[in-house]
Parts: sequence; C-alpha cells; structure tokens
Amino acid sequence: MAGTGQYAEILDGDVYKYYSEGEWKKSSSGKSVAIINPTTRTTQYKVQACTQAEVNKAMETAKTAQKSWAKTPLWKRAELLHKAAAILKEHKAPIAECLVKEIAKPAKDSVTEVVRSGDLVSYCAEEGVRILGEGKFLVSDSFPGNERTKYCLTSKIPLGVVLAIPPFNYPVNLAVSKIAPALIAGNSIVLKPPTQGAVAALHMVHCFHLAGFPKGLISCITGKGSEIGDFLTMHPGVNCISFTGGDTGIAISKKAGMVPLQMELGGKDACIVLEDADLDLVAANIIKGGFSYSGQRCTAVKVVLVMESVADALVDKVKAKVAKLTVGPPEKDCDITPVVSESSANYIEGLVKDAEQKEATFCQEYRREGNLIWPLLLDNVRPDMRIAWEEPFGPVLPVIRISSVEEGIHHCNASNFGLQGCIFTRDINKAMLISDAMETGTVQINSAPARGPDHFPFQGIKDSGIGSQGITNSINMMTKVKTTVINLPVPSYTMG
Ligand code: G3H
Repeated sequence: MAGTGQYAEILDGDVYKYYSEGEWKKSSSGKSVAIINPTTRTTQYKVQACTQAEVNKAMETAKTAQKSWAKTPLWKRAELLHKAAAILKEHKAPIAECLVKEIAKPAKDSVTEVVRSGDLVSYCAEEGVRILGEGKFLVSDSFPGNERTKYCLTSKIPLGVVLAIPPFNYPVNLAVSKIAPALIAGNSIVLKPPTQGAVAALHMVHCFHLAGFPKGLISCITGKGSEIGDFLTMHPGVNCISFTGGDTGIAISKKAGMVPLQMELGGKDACIVLEDADLDLVAANIIKGGFSYSGQRCTAVKVVLVMESVADALVDKVKAKVAKLTVGPPEKDCDITPVVSESSANYIEGLVKDAEQKEATFCQEYRREGNLIWPLLLDNVRPDMRIAWEEPFGPVLPVIRISSVEEGIHHCNASNFGLQGCIFTRDINKAMLISDAMETGTVQINSAPARGPDHFPFQGIKDSGIGSQGITNSINMMTKVKTTVINLPVPSYTMG
C-alpha cells in the first residue's frame, strides 16, 4: 500500500515529505498542498509546500553531488540505474495505486506506466554506456590549408544540474524519461512533480533512494507552481530544463536563462483518412488514439480529417465502438474515467458548448457528472469552431470532412501545434508525400500517434516544443561536447 510499510518514512502524519540531501523532510513552511482525487473530488493526499530557501538548498546540494557523480565510472552509474529500475518494477502496485487516486488513470494503464518506466530506466543505462562510452577522433588535414598537425578528441560531458518538470498525465514515466538520461550522463536532478501525480512521483523517487544513489544527487521538491515555479525555472543553479506540459512551457522558455531546453507542450494531432483506407483499422485507431486515458495525452488523436466519400462509413464504425467504451471509476479499469480536475472538465465543456452553438453534429448525447465526461464524437465540425483548433485534453473528438488531401494537410499545418499526425491509406507513396508535407515532429502511417517505443525520437515543432526526446536524444541533449586538441610540432602521416 502507498504510504505504508517501507514507504512510511516518506510520510509525516497525513502529509508526504519532500526529498532533499538524501533525506525525507518536512517543509519549514508548515504548509501543505492538497491533491484532489478526480473521481471523488475530495482530498486524497497532501504534499509539502516547499519554500524558496528549500529550493536553494536542493540546488546547492545538487551542484556538489553532481561534481563527484560525474567522476563516478559510467558502468557504476549504469549499475545503479539498473538497480533503481528493478526496484521500480517491484513496487509497481503501490505506485500504480497513487496514479489511480491522483490522476484517475485506469488501473491497468497505471501499472503499465510504472513497468514502462522501469524498462525506460534500464534501456537508458544500456544506451548511455554505448553512446557515452565513445567519442570522436578528427585530424586536421581534411580541412583546406591544414597539414596533419592537429588531433582532435571529442567526448560528451554532463551539463550540471537538470531541472525536470513532468506533467500530470505521466508523472512517473515522463519524470524518469528526464531523470534517467540526466543521471547516466553524469548530471544531478532536481525534480518538480506536478501537483496531481506528486505522490506517485515521490514513491518513484523513493525507489531511486532505495537503490542507493549518492545524497543530494536527486531531489524532489513539491509545492505550488505559483510560489516556487518561476523561482525554480529562473534559478541560477539550473543548467538544463526538461519540461513537459502545457503552454506554461512557452512562458518558461522566455524566462529561462542561457540553458539548454527540452520541451514538449502538447499537440492537436490530426488523423488524415484517405478514400482507400482500411476503415476498420482507422476506427480502431481513432478509439485507441482519441479516447485512451480519456483523451488526456499530448499524442491523442485530436482531430479527424476524413475524405467526404468515406466519412459516413467511418463515423458509423467509430460510433459503434464509442458505444462500447466503459465509463466510470479508474479502480474498475473503465475506458473513460474522470478528467484530472474540475477546471479541465469546465474547459472541455466550453468547447462542447461552442460546437453545439455552431451546430456540429453530436453523435452521442453530451453527458457529464462531476469530472466524468462521457465520450463524444462531434461530426461536421468546421474551422470556425474552437474544437477544430484547441486541445480538449478530454474524451471529445471532432471530425472534419474534407474534399481533398490538400485541405487536410492545410488544416494540419494551420495549427499552432506540430507534435504528431497520422495518415491512413493503402498507398505508401501517397502516405510518404503527405507525411513530408505535414508540419509535425512525427507522422505515423496507418497507426495512431504515440510517443513510444521510448527510444524513438520524439519531438514537436512550432508551439509543440523545443528539442527532441527519446532515450538517445535525451542523453545527448543532457551533455555537451568537450574537445581536446593535440598539436604536433610537425605533420604526422600514418604509415608515411
Ligand atoms: O502526453 C504526452 C505523452 O508524451 C504521450 O505519451 O504517446 O505514450 O501516451 P504516449
């Protein structure tokens, strides 16, 4: 059970402690932040409201710990990560329980998130050993005007302190996707988990604590973004920020100093359906892509752009599948569970009402109880409706009927977002041409958008993000290149 047995050390009364200097601590603020269970809409957990002084302390110890961590042999860093991965998998049940209570993620998906996170940490350790274990050797006579008098050796060195800010929808997986690359590359970590998901994140950090990482190398600071958010992101001790979330990321990128940024800020992933598509395959992917975790994924299918000639048939197939989705509490592993907060549910409702006023076709009756919104397919959506452009982050999916492929590409590219998109067709040549024309970081052919497998490059363009993620790219992003040049007194040509 979360918070009991070996987890008792991370709890003080009914408030979870934060983690700094290798210890579980109470904040000197004496204040806590309540985490509201999206299903019951009552307080489920409480976490410490950390102060700016506590942030300073975590930064200071992160800086010191990083110096000796960078001198720890790579194979030892990998070994510790493998250990943390194994502990994480062992503790999947209590962590998943937190995900169910804090973010209303369906029970099975919650377990999957933890297991996937363990796999990610292990893969990261292995990939780190491979890519950080080798550098480059360059010789000067390949550049015009030079003799072979200079040997250049390059290697990858850590950045320093990495600030990791994951979102509520994957508080464990999108935390470890930042923590593991940072650590294998020799960096230290200050983690600021989202409020909803903070307790799952604290339990995850506890696994790293049990694995025996050096004190101060990993900190987990909880509290209100409004009080410590800017303080953290503008902190002079931070050498890199890896953020996943909403448009707060745009504000962070404007305020952050001269540090590398890795950002993933949402999407309006388009699903373009051509006349020759396998409509059963499309319908299955629209259900999986649009409605899993109630549409609260940045890579969810967020607008269907279907050729008019096959639109009726596709909408009928999707409608039939929507009718089979189970709706209810995450504990019962329902397909559709309450969205994360009341304000999120209100926002989604605003989009639905706008579409209603502008006469979209409702394929189901709109229904909401508290934070629980029944799945809704909106047909005949037009570009003047908000739902055509905005991200509901909920189980509401618009269908726009198009009369040409160009119209679909145009709609996709007119979005401020550019995360992923997908195309359904049996013609690979057409698919490639459309993929090349779509202004998105990834295009999936004949499948719904998805970030995984976690070693694939994952990136957004425009307002969807900065930089590229995926295990290899994250490790590279969290390092910088160091070169040493050996200057010879006379040119040296091998075998010459
Ligand atoms: O919400 C954003 C995540 O990066 C999406 O990940 O495609 O595995 O659901 P996913």
